Amino acid sequence: MEIDYEDERVLAGEEGETSQKMMEILLALGKVFSARRLVPIRSAQVSGASYKTIGPYGLEWLSSLNARVAVPTVLNPVGMDRVRWREMGVGEDFARKQEEVIAAYSRLGVRMACTCTPYYLGETRYGDHLAWAESSAVSYANSVIGARTNREGGPGALAAAIIGKTPCYGLHLVANRRPDLVVEVAWEKPPSDPAEFGAIGYHVGKIVGNRVPYFLGIRPTREQMKALGAAMAATGAVALFHVEGITPEARIFTWDVRKMDRITVHRDDIEPLFADRAVDAVAIGCPHCSGAELAAIATALSGRRVTRPLWVFAARQVIEQNREAVVVIEGCGAKVFADTCMVVSPATEQFGVVMVNSGKAAAYVPELCGAAVRLGTLEDCLRAATDPDQVGGSISS
Ligand code: F3S
Repeated sequence: MEIDYEDERVLAGEEGETSQKMMEILLALGKVFSARRLVPIRSAQVSGASYKTIGPYGLEWLSSLNARVAVPTVLNPVGMDRVRWREMGVGEDFARKQEEVIAAYSRLGVRMACTCTPYYLGETRYGDHLAWAESSAVSYANSVIGARTNREGGPGALAAAIIGKTPCYGLHLVANRRPDLVVEVAWEKPPSDPAEFGAIGYHVGKIVGNRVPYFLGIRPTREQMKALGAAMAATGAVALFHVEGITPEARIFTWDVRKMDRITVHRDDIEPLFADRAVDAVAIGCPHCSGAELAAIATALSGRRVTRPLWVFAARQVIEQNREAVVVIEGCGAKVFADTCMVVSPATEQFGVVMVNSGKAAAYVPELCGAAVRLGTLEDCLRAATDPDQVGGSISS
């Protein structure tokens, strides 16, 4: 791989041992994926933030690093709300270790936004090269914004953040962003709730793996695409999708859809995901809520009283910017937590069955939290959280 004079200096250790190691990681990655050069990045997003997922060895490795990030870098959600962790039922020991992880990232200059929605915090533009790690953020950046990022592993994203560059392969190259199969959503009444898009993504991700789907038959909003992409990245490895007439790159490639592989999604394919069951708690905000989503929750919840735990997750900055909605939500007895989520926090382990409106959370909660999960629309979730007798759920008809 070609590297410039500055990179040679870093590789020779002239900028310190950590930077040297990070350059070695990037060059090793570049070699594996046959990259020909490094490309400068506009921002990075690093995962491996919850002590629940990285444990003592990850903390030890992070603590050994001595460098500063070269580009704006955001941390993924950690294992607790940094202010209200006691309200979540997080223990003292975990909280102490989590703060050590946060301190290690802070020393590197990483911004403690603790969110999987970095695109709500600062400008990310069409064509920007990024090194983002969280799979739903990667999907959103590539598909909805038209930026370019591979799904980085934790060390790869951190190495890119410190060097300010990433190996130029995969989705950094326009040729690899071409759709390679058609997904037709054949519903009489098109999906409308983000949970329905999450369920479609859950179903499609299992079938398409890491291909680049081109969707027909849907007209999703940005929030609905967020739900769709997050779920496809969870059950599959989809890092980029296109939607006819909606996403920015959908029209830049020329192809004949009749000659492409095609799958069709029927309503019946996702109905079983909405099975009824009693729930112990309800969790909304995977990926983290936007301001519009907080407002929608506040409007739908207003005047009702929460009778079982209802947790809503969003980036701290988004919470601060939408205080009015947050006050309404919390006034009904729900909690709006920052910095964390139902999947990466150990707090979810206290519940037997958790209801979510996210296809991604439906995929991960059973696997990573040991709790059973039920998927429902936003209204299903709010009904389950406010009515002690309610156990049913449905997709909109
Ligand atoms: Fe974000 Fe947690 Fe879901 S990191 S995408 S809210 S699993």
